[in-house]
Amino acid sequence: MPGDRVRAVITKRKRAYAEARTLEVLEPSPERIAPVAEHPGAPWQVLRYERQLVVKHEQVRDALTRIGHLDGFELDEIVPALQQWRYRNKLEYSFGTGDEGSLVCGFHAPGSWHEIVPIDDCLLASQRSNVAREQVLAWCREQGLEAFDRRTQTGFLRNLVVREGRRSGELQVRIVTGPGELDGISLAAAVDCEGLIWTRTEALAETTQGGVSEIVAGNASLQEELCGLRLSISPHAFFQTNTEMAEKLYGIAAQQADLKGWERVYDLYCGIGTVGLSLAARAGELWGLEIVEQAVADAISNARRNEIKNARFFAGDVRLALRELVEQAGRPDLMVVDPPRAGLSQKIVRRVIEAAPRRIVYISCNPTTLAPNAAQLVEAGYALRRVTPVDMFPQTPHIECVALLERA
Ligand SMILES: C[S@@+](CC[C@H](N)C(=O)[O-])C[C@H]1O[C@@H](n2cnc3c(N)ncnc32)[C@H](O)[C@@H]1O
Repeated sequence: MPGDRVRAVITKRKRAYAEARTLEVLEPSPERIAPVAEHPGAPWQVLRYERQLVVKHEQVRDALTRIGHLDGFELDEIVPALQQWRYRNKLEYSFGTGDEGSLVCGFHAPGSWHEIVPIDDCLLASQRSNVAREQVLAWCREQGLEAFDRRTQTGFLRNLVVREGRRSGELQVRIVTGPGELDGISLAAAVDCEGLIWTRTEALAETTQGGVSEIVAGNASLQEELCGLRLSISPHAFFQTNTEMAEKLYGIAAQQADLKGWERVYDLYCGIGTVGLSLAARAGELWGLEIVEQAVADAISNARRNEIKNARFFAGDVRLALRELVEQAGRPDLMVVDPPRAGLSQKIVRRVIEAAPRRIVYISCNPTTLAPNAAQLVEAGYALRRVTPVDMFPQTPHIECVALLERA
């Protein structure tokens, strides 16, 4: 925590910075407050919320100036979250074996691969989402099912994913297991949800992606509303986990995009098309690119459902498909990029520069990867105009930003 004096071990040493893991807190920060509840997913709850915002704002400035050596841009105030707790529309739990050999469902203990801390009330999830987890756990116990043990590769139950349409009120429950049998009819009767999905996987790593999924009961996709759009979200498609703040985030992206109505817009890493579709009415044409095929199928049907006729979506890896997109669609006027935490590779940034958009709106969930990407773009003749941090994840160290770059 900011202000702590700790003993730490350095795990990564770079020229400009190092990463370390705390071994012991020697002197806790005087700013620490009592936690609301034990929760491995809410490590920053020991800081007052206002302080969390100040620290995140500083971290964005730090990343951009120290890692990216950037200056001359406007750094807006951080947009605070609308809800400090129970804001997540998606929770991924793990099954494990408790002290007395009982089945538990919760989160990994910090830094542990196999110890699962059971959770009673997950304060990042809604009450209804918590009830669904309890119902699944009670049913699994009743059935005498065992948790999968990654060390011995034995057992059955791996993960539980609970997703919620905050506006639609729908709940989707997905149970992830190893190979074996599951009495779906009985489980469906025990859990209050609009969609129940079973994923079987033999993956060695712990992941809720991949595997073979089947609908056990109810709807295959989650329905949701955002930015005036009606959206359908497949189980393996990405959707921003804080619905209310996603709307703010896309609003800021739209402001920075400042579209006049004639522009050719690219939405790279488009997921189910949310950012692009929310801009489409103010654009000439929209071209989306995304690697997960299910998400692309959602984007296409979401465009149709909302009667958006100037949007096209393609499945592909941005690294390989961007050049082809430029050949097919022509150069973009505006490029929106919203990559995963690792940001863009240097090669992808080179492809972006080649595509030569006049304006780039970069939605980033990691300022330490935004910084070198923005620096490379600045080197190539873009100017970083403005950065708006948005707090999508209270009680955690995660920071989201929207950055505007323009050809200088
Ligand atoms: C942070 S999400 C953003 C999704 C979307 N813009 C939204 O706001 O809902 C990143 C997306 O990039 C996709 N993705 C990851 N690697 C990719 C790649 N190499 N090429 C294309 N898409 C990729 C992921 O599947 C995910 O949908």
